Amino acid sequence: MNVKTLKWLGGIAGCLEIIDQRRLPAELKMLQCTNVKQLYDAIKTLAVRGAPAIGVAGAYGAVLSLKKPPAKASLKQALAILKRDCDYLASSRPTAVNLRWAIDRTVKRANAFVEKHPSCNLSQLRKIVLAEANAIFNEDVQMCLNIGKNGSNFVKNGFSILTHCNAGALATAGQGTALSLLYEAKKQGKRFKVFADESRPLLQGGRLTAWELKQSGIDTTVICDNMAASLMAQGQIDIIIVGADRIAANGDAANKIGTYSLSVLAKAHGIPFYIAAPSSTFDLKTKSGKDIPIEQRPADEVRLIGNKKITPDGIKIYNPAFDVTPAENITAIITEKGVLQKPNSRKIAGIFSF
Ligand code: MRU
Repeated sequence: MNVKTLKWLGGIAGCLEIIDQRRLPAELKMLQCTNVKQLYDAIKTLAVRGAPAIGVAGAYGAVLSLKKPPAKASLKQALAILKRDCDYLASSRPTAVNLRWAIDRTVKRANAFVEKHPSCNLSQLRKIVLAEANAIFNEDVQMCLNIGKNGSNFVKNGFSILTHCNAGALATAGQGTALSLLYEAKKQGKRFKVFADESRPLLQGGRLTAWELKQSGIDTTVICDNMAASLMAQGQIDIIIVGADRIAANGDAANKIGTYSLSVLAKAHGIPFYIAAPSSTFDLKTKSGKDIPIEQRPADEVRLIGNKKITPDGIKIYNPAFDVTPAENITAIITEKGVLQKPNSRKIAGIFSF
């Protein structure tokens, strides 16, 4: 899968180039974010999206922040600007923990460097933060690959796989999480087909998953979200694979709205339901799904299709971006560290104790 969802251009004075996913599949256009405000807007409006991708983007946001202080600014001033900008960036999307995780990691690195080298200059600090963001990028690429390798065995020859939203290359720095399993299975010569839920209201499945699977020559059929049950009842779905935005300590997993209902349907039809996610998506400080903050999105995303209003004036709209699938509905969580069958607190704590 050769999609460059995001890429840092240049050195410490550079910028973050992203694929503007709002325009796909009509056009493949790049967007260059040169400052923190631009990046905040890009994340908020889903020009860049998907939990791991916004994490990586947030890390580069720290580099953009450090472009702000003038050369003569003190390190204390620079760190204060960095902290304020990073909190601002993290507030853009509250559910995907990868964003906060990556931002906190870069800020921590910056503070540790200044503590150890109190007489360093701003340019040295910028280099350190850029190196940390690059490390997060590279680790994400590797995590995606390992998730794919760890989970490809669940994709058998001749299978029909249902997926929801987009947990592919467009959602990460690498080849995706859920879709990484498919890319690895394809490399192994397996033949299979994919049903992609369109994923109302923003259509990440119909626009983005369909686009990237088509690029890689995988047999893909887009369905409206309300068609999944009927396919399952007809015996046309062998497994379901989705990504996650935050996995609580007990294995409850937040993902795109509509994922929970798929997990209930999977249980009712005896279909294995897999989540593929890197360790940066686990939040051991969040005890259960009840504690995961769910992002509420603007009403117009539901009210309008294109520019056309489809609901009566004055009608109320409910638009949560995510829902929570309880751990008991998840057959296994596939991570870069291994596979957690029937996930629970004990198994999750085990895989993260090193
Ligand atoms: O609102 P989005 O498009 O950012 O939602 C993305 C998802 O729900 C993905 O499934 C999730 O982030 C995992 S991406 C590897």
